[in-house]
Amino acid sequence: TEGASGQVHAARLPAQNLGACAMWLYVGLVALVWALGWYLRDRQTLASVQDKHVFITGCDSGFGHMLAKRLDRKGFRVLAGCLTQKGAANLQRSSSPSLRTTLLDVTSSESIQQAVEWVRAEVGEKGLFGLVNNAGVANPIGPTEWMRIQDFRQVLAVNTFGLIEVTLGFLPLLKQARGRVVNTSSVLGRLSANGGGYCISKYTVEAFSDSLRRDMYHFGVRVSIVEPGFFKTAVTSLDTIEASLQQLWSQLAPEVQRLIMNFICDPDLSKVTSCMEHALQAKHPRTRYSAGWDAKLLWLPASYLPAFLVDVVLATILPKPALRVR
Ligand SMILES: NC(=O)c1ccc[n+]([C@@H]2O[C@H](COP(=O)([O-])OP(=O)(O)OC[C@H]3O[C@@H](n4cnc5c(N)ncnc54)[C@H](OP(=O)(O)O)[C@@H]3O)[C@@H](O)[C@H]2O)c1
Repeated sequence: TEGASGQVHAARLPAQNLGACAMWLYVGLVALVWALGWYLRDRQTLASVQDKHVFITGCDSGFGHMLAKRLDRKGFRVLAGCLTQKGAANLQRSSSPSLRTTLLDVTSSESIQQAVEWVRAEVGEKGLFGLVNNAGVANPIGPTEWMRIQDFRQVLAVNTFGLIEVTLGFLPLLKQARGRVVNTSSVLGRLSANGGGYCISKYTVEAFSDSLRRDMYHFGVRVSIVEPGFFKTAVTSLDTIEASLQQLWSQLAPEVQRLIMNFICDPDLSKVTSCMEHALQAKHPRTRYSAGWDAKLLWLPASYLPAFLVDVVLATILPKPALRVR
C-alpha cells in the first residue's frame, strides 16, 4: 500500500506544478496585456494644440520658465504669469512672439483678478484649455520649533492659498474650454520630511487637487498632480536655504543638507516639465505623475512604509539638535 500511495503522490506532483505554472503564466499574460494597453493609451496625444491656450504661474525661473518655452515651441498658445518684470522680459526674449506674458503675484487677490481678466480677453469664446499652478516658495525650512507662525503663513500664502485662489479665478474659463488643471505638488506632499510650511503646503495641494478633480469630473475639467523629487532650481538652492536657516539660527551648519542637495538634486528639469506637458497634451492625462527617480524609487515607496520606520531613517540622516536628549 505504501508503494501504491507513493506512486499516486508522485503522479499528482507534476500535475499540481503544471497547474501552478499555468496559473502564473495566465497572471503574467494578463499583466502584460494590461501594461501594453496602459502604455498605448498613455501615448495617445491630442490631434492639435495650436488653438489651445495654457496659463502658467511662476514663469520667471525653474520648471515654469522651461515649460513655457517648451509648450511655446510645440505650438500651444502660452500665457505666462511672471512675478517680476525682469522675469517676464527674460522669458519673452527667449520665446516666439506668440507667447504672451503678464505680471502675477499669486498672494495678491487684485493681481489674480487682473490676470484672469487679461486671460479672458486673450482666449475669447474658446475659454482656457490649461492652467499650470507652478509658482511656489520653500523657505523658511528648518526645525519646527524655530518657526514663528508667520513663517508658515508666508509659505502657505503662495503654495496653498495662492494656488487655490488662482484656480478659483480661472475655473469658469476652464469649464468653458473643458480644460485641464495641472497642480505642482512635491514628494514632500506625500512624506513630510522637514519642518516649516513647505510640506504642509504641498499636502494641502494634494488634498485640494483631489477634491477639485472629483468636483470637476462632472464638468469635463481634468485635474492632474505633478509630484517632483528633488531638482536643481531656486527652490532647492543652498544659498537661499542657508540664508533662511541662518536667519532662524545663526549657529546652524547644514552639512547634511549640503550633502543631500549636492548629490540628490537632479539637474534635468525636463523630467518634470515632460510630466506637465503630458498632462496637457495626452488624450488621457494621468491623475498623478512622479517626476524623478528619487520620487519613484525612494520618496513614494517610503511614504507607504510604517511611520516609525521612516522616522528612524530621517532621524538618522537629517541634522540633529546640538542639545538633544536622545
Ligand atoms: N525644485 C525642486 O526640487 C522641486 C521639487 C518639488 C516641487 N517643486 C515645486 O515646483 C514649483 C516650481 O519651483 P522651481 O523648483 O521651478 O523653483 P523656482 O525656480 O523658484 O520657481 C518658482 C517660481 O515661482 C515664482 N514665485 C514665487 N513667489 C511667487 C508669487 N507670490 N507669485 C507668483 N510667482 C511666484 C518665482 O518667481 P521668482 O523667480 O521671481 O522668485 C519662480 O518663478 C514650485 O511649486 C515648487 O514647490 C520643486
